[in-house]
Amino acid sequence: MTDKYTQFVSHGIGKDLAKKLGLPQPAVLRRYKEGEPLVPGPVLVLGSGNGRTAGSDDLAAALAGWGLDVRRSALPKEKLGAIVLVLDAVEHPEELAGPVLTAAPSLRDLAPGARVVTISRTSASAATPAVAAGRQGVDGLLRSLAKELRAGATANGILLGDGAGTTSPSTLGALRFFLSGRSAFVDGQFLTVTSGAGQLSADPDKPLAGKVAVVTGAARGIGAAIARTLHRDGARLVVVDIPAAGDHLAAVANEVHGTALQLDITAGDAGRRIIDHAVERHGALDIVIHNAGITRDKLLANMDEGRWNSVIGVNIASQLRINEALLGADQLHKTPRIVSVASTSGIAGNRGQTNYAASKGGVIGMVRATAPLLAERGSSINAVAPGFIETDMTARIPFATREVARRLNSLQQGGLPGDVAEAIAFLASDEAGGITGEVLRVCGQNLVGA
Ligand code: NAI
Repeated sequence: MTDKYTQFVSHGIGKDLAKKLGLPQPAVLRRYKEGEPLVPGPVLVLGSGNGRTAGSDDLAAALAGWGLDVRRSALPKEKLGAIVLVLDAVEHPEELAGPVLTAAPSLRDLAPGARVVTISRTSASAATPAVAAGRQGVDGLLRSLAKELRAGATANGILLGDGAGTTSPSTLGALRFFLSGRSAFVDGQFLTVTSGAGQLSADPDKPLAGKVAVVTGAARGIGAAIARTLHRDGARLVVVDIPAAGDHLAAVANEVHGTALQLDITAGDAGRRIIDHAVERHGALDIVIHNAGITRDKLLANMDEGRWNSVIGVNIASQLRINEALLGADQLHKTPRIVSVASTSGIAGNRGQTNYAASKGGVIGMVRATAPLLAERGSSINAVAPGFIETDMTARIPFATREVARRLNSLQQGGLPGDVAEAIAFLASDEAGGITGEVLRVCGQNLVGA
């Protein structure tokens, strides 16, 4: 459900009134529904120019292979479902003009909920300052473009590391995610594909078929939404929460045909108990989603030890301990995937949340440092950083502050728990196997902070 304001300004008098008064008019976002087309119209694929178009030709062929209506040049006034700008061969900022200005007029012809996706190379591995400048230019370009789009359209980018190409499995996986309704609340963000690892699912509607997944903090909110989404995508579920949330947890477990494990994740043996439960009840453990988290907000000047320690204990210390047990376990699937829930507070900071931001910054540091350890076995770990999401946690924010907070992003609305769940489901799938150590923000391109 979108919030009441968004519903009001989407139709009739509400729409006219908002227009007259210059009030924000958030669009109803295009979200994933099984059976609906991947994009709401033809896909325009444009290449880097200067005769180096191999990357875009291969990519256009791959998209045509998915049954998409692919265009290599725009037809006048045709409503486009997406524009894919393949900029992987850019070696100088002056080379951006060709493809970017060719795409520019088509931005007026985007269908509601359309997508713009850039595919370019990471600047970190550039051999010369000019190459780095051209590549980093894509960053500024994409983030600005995302702020110009309207009607629920978004712009996101895929960055290729040295080990990845335009048609590597996870480049195509990330592209499929960004094009689809699964990425509705992801805007102005980049995902880096580091290697050619990963595998596209034969059935795009069931990318987690046969996998066993554990979700912590699954009795309500974002955790329950993650459990539902992973179940929809074909996974078998173990849902974990504290004993006090036992009834809600049992209801979620029933709904997703999974099993419930009542457990405080701060317990010293939490990792072992999670592994034992998954293996005894489901025969395997492939995916772990660290979602459980708490807030105990206070200005640092008024902070006490209890508030500080409980937030660090639940939000990051428990994840470190559980991961240690996972990495040492023989029963774990040989290519496990771990996804942690961070927060934009851990990136940009938030007044009154020093403890929470320290714990979520900690999650990001942990994910980056664990990625190389898991890469040896072909597995991955990533984080998702939600912005303003409509949950019990944000419903407790006073009305005026909440109303401002939920509008301060390019999409002018709060995200839904399911939006976070979609990003997690993608990163937990083999389609994202070549993506690791990344932090993907699900924040509608929050306008405040980093
Ligand atoms: P919520 O408070 O609705 O749900 C959290 C769940 O975690 C609850 O069911 C709770 O019982 C469980 N939990 C807490 N401590 C636990 C422990 N020691 N052991 C096991 N389970 C425990 O919170 P919400 O909004 O669903 O948040 C989920 C995650 O998303 C958290 O990590 C939160 O920090 C993060 N997040 C939420 C945002 C939002 O706007 N709601 C924004 C950014 C991040």
